[in-house]
Amino acid sequence: FHVNMDASEADKGTYPHYMLKEIDDQPAVMRKLVQTYFNDAGEIDLDSDLLADLKAADRLYIIAAGTSYHAGLVGERLFERLAKIPTEAHVASEFAYNTPILSAKPFFIFLSQSGETADSREVLTNIGEAGYHSLTITNVQNSTLSREATYTMLLEAGPEIAVASTKAYTAQIAVEAIVAKALGEANGTDAASQFELANQLGLVANGIQALVDQKEVFEKIAQDNFVDQHDAFYIGRGIDYAVSLEASLKLKEITYIHSEGVAAGELKHGPIALIEAGTPVIGLITQSKTASLTRSNLAETAARGSHIMTIVSKSLANVHDDIILEDVDETLAPLLTIIPAQLISYYTSLLKGLDVDKPRNLAKSVTVQ
Ligand code: AGP
Repeated sequence: FHVNMDASEADKGTYPHYMLKEIDDQPAVMRKLVQTYFNDAGEIDLDSDLLADLKAADRLYIIAAGTSYHAGLVGERLFERLAKIPTEAHVASEFAYNTPILSAKPFFIFLSQSGETADSREVLTNIGEAGYHSLTITNVQNSTLSREATYTMLLEAGPEIAVASTKAYTAQIAVEAIVAKALGEANGTDAASQFELANQLGLVANGIQALVDQKEVFEKIAQDNFVDQHDAFYIGRGIDYAVSLEASLKLKEITYIHSEGVAAGELKHGPIALIEAGTPVIGLITQSKTASLTRSNLAETAARGSHIMTIVSKSLANVHDDIILEDVDETLAPLLTIIPAQLISYYTSLLKGLDVDKPRNLAKSVTVQ
């Protein structure tokens, strides 16, 4: 008697789709990362050779593709803020063949859920031949990128089966924050020593839980504002812009709705021409220094007929806002901001009758260049 069941099928439990389960896994993943990387004294346990290599570097290059690249864009801010080291995130397929002039002492960080992405492997081979050291942050132990890099740190997220990446994104950002704090402390920065990261990741876990506990809110937004649309825009500034790119990727991947993440200040330089009556424009507002500017940019699209919605941190919110996030340190806000976008994409895909976990034309792991 042969049961034709995918080996990982059982992991879905009572969930209808892997993606929904993986979204729900995220609070537990945040807590697991604290357990894994902090010791009983509350200090970060980082490989001492890795820390020495990071300390010796004058610039970090984060190399990744797709969602992992978007996590790298958030990482840029984390490393610059906490460790005060210049950091650049790059799309692997571009970096491989159009390599910028490198700094005198570069260190490379590869972000990859699967650890098998061919574009990133190409870069790792090249920089390895040049004698540079590297860290791979991956969900898959013994994956190619893990074996070939100098160091590996694991995402501890458990298997991610849905093609649309969710928990790997938030885990990557959390691990970047951990490395950035450890490096910042080694460099003696106040920003790092004052950053209570373990405590913050606990707040993040609670904040994610509060969002995933209101699924009906996101299902209704999907039904009322997304299912019948051809285009949708996420806008934000700074770190919110970085998240808008990931929010937009989630939507296009599984709903086939054309979507763009736009730097809010760039709207008026072109993209605002695309706004039609009812086009959804979602503003991400978690950064105090740019909150009012993003609100003005949203209002400019509303004046052209868009349907605006806001995802806002509690301390910056007002009575007209749609989705309120628990307050966490502003540099960790992406860990919460992305959750509503993941859920809106999920429900829109479901309501359109699409294959949520296996969208057309996409593979979970892209092993060709
Ligand atoms: C994410 O939803 C995508 N399916 C895709 O962009 C993915 O993040 C990209 O292919 C990189 O994969 P990796 O993290 O396994 O390297």
